[in-house]
Amino acid sequence: MCGIIGVVGGGAAAPVLLGGLRRLEYRGYDSAGLALSGEGRLLVRRAVGKVAALTERIAQDDPEGPFGRWTTGIAHTRWATHGAPTEANAHPHLDRTGRIAVVHNGIIENYRQLRSRLEAAGHRFASETDTEVLARLIGDRHQGDLRAAVVAALREVEGAYGVAVLCADEPGALVVARKGSPLCVGIAEGRVLVASDPAALVAHTRQVIHLDDGDVALLRADSVDVSGLDLSPRHRSPDELPPDVAAAERDGHEHFMHKEMHEQPESVRNALRGRIDLRNGDAVLAGLGRGEDGEDATVRRAILLGCGTSLHACMVGEFAFEELAQLPAEAEQAAEFRYRNPLVGPDDLVVAVSQSGETADTLAAVKEARSRGARVRGLVNVVGSAIARQTGRGVYLHVGPEVSVASTKAFTGQVAVLLLMALRLGRSRRLSPERGRAMAAEIARLPELVERVLERESSVIRAAERMAHSEHAFFLGRGPMHPVALEGALKLKEISYVHAEGYHAAELKHGPIALLTEGTPVVVIANRSPVRDKTLSNAEECRARGAGLVAVVTQGQEGPPGAWADLVIPDCDPLVATVPAAVALQMLAYHVARIRGCPIDQPRNLAKSVTVE
Ligand code: M6R
Repeated sequence: MCGIIGVVGGGAAAPVLLGGLRRLEYRGYDSAGLALSGEGRLLVRRAVGKVAALTERIAQDDPEGPFGRWTTGIAHTRWATHGAPTEANAHPHLDRTGRIAVVHNGIIENYRQLRSRLEAAGHRFASETDTEVLARLIGDRHQGDLRAAVVAALREVEGAYGVAVLCADEPGALVVARKGSPLCVGIAEGRVLVASDPAALVAHTRQVIHLDDGDVALLRADSVDVSGLDLSPRHRSPDELPPDVAAAERDGHEHFMHKEMHEQPESVRNALRGRIDLRNGDAVLAGLGRGEDGEDATVRRAILLGCGTSLHACMVGEFAFEELAQLPAEAEQAAEFRYRNPLVGPDDLVVAVSQSGETADTLAAVKEARSRGARVRGLVNVVGSAIARQTGRGVYLHVGPEVSVASTKAFTGQVAVLLLMALRLGRSRRLSPERGRAMAAEIARLPELVERVLERESSVIRAAERMAHSEHAFFLGRGPMHPVALEGALKLKEISYVHAEGYHAAELKHGPIALLTEGTPVVVIANRSPVRDKTLSNAEECRARGAGLVAVVTQGQEGPPGAWADLVIPDCDPLVATVPAAVALQMLAYHVARIRGCPIDQPRNLAKSVTVE
């Protein structure tokens, strides 16, 4: 989603800002812009499309001018919410005088009322955005002290924001503030930076201050002065960024997605490291607690919350919690949770699952569950993210940074950790030590199982070649493979733009089968499981109507007759098999998208982290 980078001090700002924007590109955006202050004035440039277009614009406009000299600036990549992705709607936005510039992530919910009020007072807006409302509000409150003006304006605003503001009259200063949209301050030699994502800072520093909601900070080249909205001082100390934030390079892979798929043996190993107790058939998850207030025998029900791919991981978790822990479990779309008066309380365990830890819908659901007294835990990848901090307790994924918009290694890490959670809960309840040991041993095999699927990439490419020219596809699975089918369909549609539907294998005949025509690809997950024969019958129903079958099958077992291709996964427990099956489908989607020439890491209209509801 939208990205912010700002810098004050330490040499020319423009290259730092453009480099930071390039680091933020993976989050998804449709326009970009920057503003610099110096010599008592502002310079603003915006462009629709990629950061490269903005860079070109600057090079043409001003090859040797202020862009190479001025040291204070802010920049932004915008993912359109209010108003189309046009140059006029791109950030930064200016106040009425044109001397204050603002970049903003998040949504100002009362912007219509504020805009009407400002228009009645004579403002003429240049864009359709909520951000311009904020810029003009700040300008109207400005009486020589930028921070005071920002605070006064933010007090009138409802909604979420991460903002960075600069003013032509204060060239060595930036004012930044956050509420519900992440922002961190980087402290470098002779220079202070701000960004919505630490990835934009790593080229300059690993010392960062994660701002909290309600923080406002005045940044100068040699100081960071944090206060609340009431201007009372707040103490914030810097943390060291983990080295893996800096490691986000493609390392010879054509796309981040390809690199991240191939990192999965290692990322799953990291997610499991130190957490499997093979001897006792148990899992060690310190963040969950145990006994006195932990997720033990007293839990009545588990609710697993997430969106998109993380929701699919929750749906696999639902099967694991019920089977291993004999605990009623429900996977829920996080956006729905707080709007349906959920019946949750202190006996419920709520697990919020999110790669980014910043997804607005999941964060809102966490707050709702907490307010109702549930035991809320996070299953989050990004350390220090909003959900990690809101939940206070939980388990980090440790799968490393995921740059590609399409989530891959986060999903496999999430499923691996949810299996461990189910095992832990099971061993506190009715799961026998023998079954616990067998399950722990199977989970421990995951890195090797994933490795063996990745080794078969050439057979996946052959299947992708058969599918690549179809505009529709179906994915079928049963039991814990139903969410894997949904995930396979999601991967295919988001990166290849092929219309793909995931269904429970038994559901197709209740309507969607009408859509099958000669050669429609149907990907069917028919691994070893108690329902394999039923799934194969469903596959046959599709083949009889002309579908082209691609089957995920267990090594040593036959695929459906007449299939275009079989994607073979190693034999393992049917719950554990969800991970290697998902990896096979990730590769399938990747190669279909590659053959179709799609921009795999940054698909159109998508953002890496969705910080609006
Ligand atoms: O960061 P989160 O896991 O909370 O993100 C949730 C979804 O936005 C995300 O999984 C999305 O569906 C991905 N693009 C899927 O590849």
